[in-house]
Amino acid sequence: MDSFVIKGPCRLEGTVSVSGAKNAVLPLMAASMLTGGTCTLENVPDLRDTRSMMKLLESFGVFSSLEEGRLVLDASMITSFETPYDLVRTMRASIYALGPLVARFGRARVSMPGGCAWGPRPVDLHLDGVGALGAKIKIDHGYIDATAERLRGAEIGLTIPSVGATVNIIMAAVLAEGRTVIGNAAREPEITELTRALRSGGARIAGEGTSVITIDGVSAIRPYTHRVIPDRIEAGTFAAAAMITGGRIEIEGCTPGHLGAVVEKLVACGAQIECGESAMTVTGSERTRPADVETGFYPSFPTDMQAQIMAVLSIAQGTSTIIDRVYPDRFTHVPELCRLGAKISRDGNVVVVTGVEKLEGAPVMASDIRASSALILAGLVAEGETKILRVYHIDRGYERIEEKMKAIGADIKRVKE
Ligand code: UD1
Repeated sequence: MDSFVIKGPCRLEGTVSVSGAKNAVLPLMAASMLTGGTCTLENVPDLRDTRSMMKLLESFGVFSSLEEGRLVLDASMITSFETPYDLVRTMRASIYALGPLVARFGRARVSMPGGCAWGPRPVDLHLDGVGALGAKIKIDHGYIDATAERLRGAEIGLTIPSVGATVNIIMAAVLAEGRTVIGNAAREPEITELTRALRSGGARIAGEGTSVITIDGVSAIRPYTHRVIPDRIEAGTFAAAAMITGGRIEIEGCTPGHLGAVVEKLVACGAQIECGESAMTVTGSERTRPADVETGFYPSFPTDMQAQIMAVLSIAQGTSTIIDRVYPDRFTHVPELCRLGAKISRDGNVVVVTGVEKLEGAPVMASDIRASSALILAGLVAEGETKILRVYHIDRGYERIEEKMKAIGADIKRVKE
């Protein structure tokens, strides 16, 4: 298992390019199964999760190749409808196989995803949604067994605007007979991405980006070529890196419009941020002001940036509070940040961060993708050596992060053990 060794403190300065969005790529890959042809995705990040999804699709008979950001997926020979547990347990997004398989083949057997480092993460809304379209669903020995003749459109009101459930219902509904209306749908840019790609393949979808999405089923989706949007969480992480190190980073190839709540919070902390159409420059300040942060569904502050803002606030001049309203248990980074000298206390989903003057390097353990990036941020400013174990978590969601950080002044290296 690889580790990162960071020697701090350091100040980051320079230009960095953002990769394609992981959370946009995974649904687009699964959706290729709706087409029965060859889809091409561009600006695809070469991540562990991308590779895991390629393996998963391969287990159904979808052949794929990824070279220089171009991912070609041939879904013309699907012969299996079952996802093995070994693949599902490495990546929850495997549940995205459910919608396309039931919609196109009338059957799917998808291993039930387990919990994850930050809580139970149920899939009831996925199952209820696909069930409302007429699929018969039963849970059998840890597997979700779904069968259907042709799915039929329905009105589905989500109790929570779940990204994953919205994705699965859209993918199932595009080939259903008649109209589906999803109420309280997720509004994340990654949903808009999926609908754009499917529409270029002939799907009839309206309302993405709002909380009501309407889908009129069609009989077939044509293969599509689609360029993936930049990863807003990677961009936000580099913005946080500029802030925490008091540096100046020009973040290229990003969409600042997707980062409104993050930009607002970093500015409140003292950052200066200039936003263009597809780039932003973030200048950190000598003094970090405390802030109160609450995560929520898009366009609110993303839970995927909660750990990183906590790292930033750990050296603020004052006391901050952070409330995670999306994942109330997503705090595995708290004890690790404390090992670096942060003063953080937690009560349920509310965390109080009492800013300290400096952090000190120590060995710490990465536990999930975003928790790991928070540890890198803290390691950049901690005095001395920080060793982050189990960085395979970060490789799931950040492309070559240590190379990108090194190029703008971080003293970071990957150590193979
Ligand atoms: C996606 C993102 C993840 C991000 C999260 C929230 C991907 C691959 N992952 O995860 O990075 O942190 O959105 O922005 O895109 N819920 C239920 N029942 C369900 C589904 C969800 O109760 O069937 C709850 C969850 O427990 C959570 C909330 O809904 O509290 C939001 O989860 P959801 O939007 O579904 O997250 P994911 O799609 O899993």
